[in-house]
Amino acid sequence: MKFSVESRPSSTGSGDLLVLPYLDEKPLAHPAVQALLKKLGPTPLKLLKKEEFKGEAGDSRAFAAQGKLPFDYVLFMGLGTAKKLNLETLRKAAAKSAQTADRMKVKKMVSLLPLALDKKASAQEAGQAYAEGVVLGLYRFEKYKSKKEKDGNLREVRYVVGDAKAAKAFSTGHRAGEHIAQGVNYARDLVNTPARDKPPEFLGREAKKTRGVRTKVFNHRQLQRLGMGALYGVGMGSPNPPVFVEMHYRPRGRVKKRVAIVGKGITFDSGGLSLKPAKSMETMKDDMSGAATILAVMKLLPALKLPVEVYGYVASAENMPDGGAQRPGDVVKAYNGKTIEVLNTDAEGRLALADALSYLTKHRKVDYIIDVATLTGAALVALGDLYSAALGTDPDLIKMLKDCGEECGEKIWELPLAEEYAEEMKSQVADIQNIGGPYGGTINGALFLKNFVAEKAKWVHLDIAGPSWANKPWAYAPKGGTGIMVRTFLRLFSKF
Ligand code: BES
Ligand code: ZN
Ligand code: ZN
Repeated sequence: MKFSVESRPSSTGSGDLLVLPYLDEKPLAHPAVQALLKKLGPTPLKLLKKEEFKGEAGDSRAFAAQGKLPFDYVLFMGLGTAKKLNLETLRKAAAKSAQTADRMKVKKMVSLLPLALDKKASAQEAGQAYAEGVVLGLYRFEKYKSKKEKDGNLREVRYVVGDAKAAKAFSTGHRAGEHIAQGVNYARDLVNTPARDKPPEFLGREAKKTRGVRTKVFNHRQLQRLGMGALYGVGMGSPNPPVFVEMHYRPRGRVKKRVAIVGKGITFDSGGLSLKPAKSMETMKDDMSGAATILAVMKLLPALKLPVEVYGYVASAENMPDGGAQRPGDVVKAYNGKTIEVLNTDAEGRLALADALSYLTKHRKVDYIIDVATLTGAALVALGDLYSAALGTDPDLIKMLKDCGEECGEKIWELPLAEEYAEEMKSQVADIQNIGGPYGGTINGALFLKNFVAEKAKWVHLDIAGPSWANKPWAYAPKGGTGIMVRTFLRLFSKF
């Protein structure tokens, strides 16, 4: 895809599709838009009025330009009201116009949407949001289709921006947005790949391939020798052995903060001997979404040159029920020495993370620890599939994550890390057990993890069981893996 930015609003040039912003129930008052409307003639506007087209955010109407403009079509793109206009509106509008263009077999689209910006967002932020909308919105996973849908029709997008200074900032933001969105799409590819083709060792190889970061992959023998009995146990029922991955990015210049990010990498979660019902298993190739987020973030970091030192961890296993599988009632020992009674083999994510958190707690000194995991179905029950749950020991970090998530369109909601419930996770035979009572499952999961970080650690656990997977397509994510939290993490790092 070719992107370019025009800084003279009066030179829209030509193309197949012209996109005009519709704000506060009318076409944008900008002189460039008005001049084009004049050429187009009164009919489209009359029809829009008759249809009672309000131009709500995401709503759009296309008309033939009928030779009145050097375009085949004009698309009126709703941006809602100026009062509510934000980065997420821009992202959604960019995605919608690109998707519409693609469906209409448009090759070149010229978009005047950036003119609606005004002082709502910096031109750089807007450029980034538009790029994210277009690149994420056009994502498809077609590797396994024998007949590819005709590989993208849209070839070129030209933006018309207010002036030269804005154009420069817009371009800078756009380049960053393209880069980041490609990283998100990489995470989506990993999640959408069938479990059969992405065993834990495959994730290890992906980590090794990442340029600009130092990567260590511990194979199953090494992690057994190291004493990562919890992660090892999860992998025992599968012919595909577990791996533990440590990645390290160190920026050239000054380091403002040190962060460890940890991802759950269960490449398939059958439940193990505590087998899941068939329906619940259908999407369980997505149980490595946390790991996909870590791999994508680490891959993106070197080019972004942010002043943060980042340790990325992937704890990966396949949770299967063969004859070697761990049994309900088995006891395993985690890397920090705590013993765990595995009462339910389907609560395996916390076992995998226990060793990763213990390892980094023992060996690395960081300011913040964030883990990201499709940990509990209970998170879906509590918050639906739009919100990720956040639980942790540091209210400031939770607040920062919530704010960054909001700006990225990746919503986060805090749940209490209620110590009172920890009682339920005491075991008869071991130090702790891996399940609590029937209620508050997401809280229980987080309380379990808390056993593996230091008392004073600033740690947040993100349960992405809902948003990691789109059950139906929405604004800029098709059905399937979403690559959630990649953008939120990078935004957080850019604010340190
Ligand atoms: N991977 C699942 C959680 C999950 C469920 C993610 C639905 C996405 C959608 C996790 O390993 C799991 O099975 N958790 C159990 C925990 C229970 C046994 C305490 C659950 O949520 O039922
Ligand atoms: Zn499970
Ligand atoms: Zn799981």
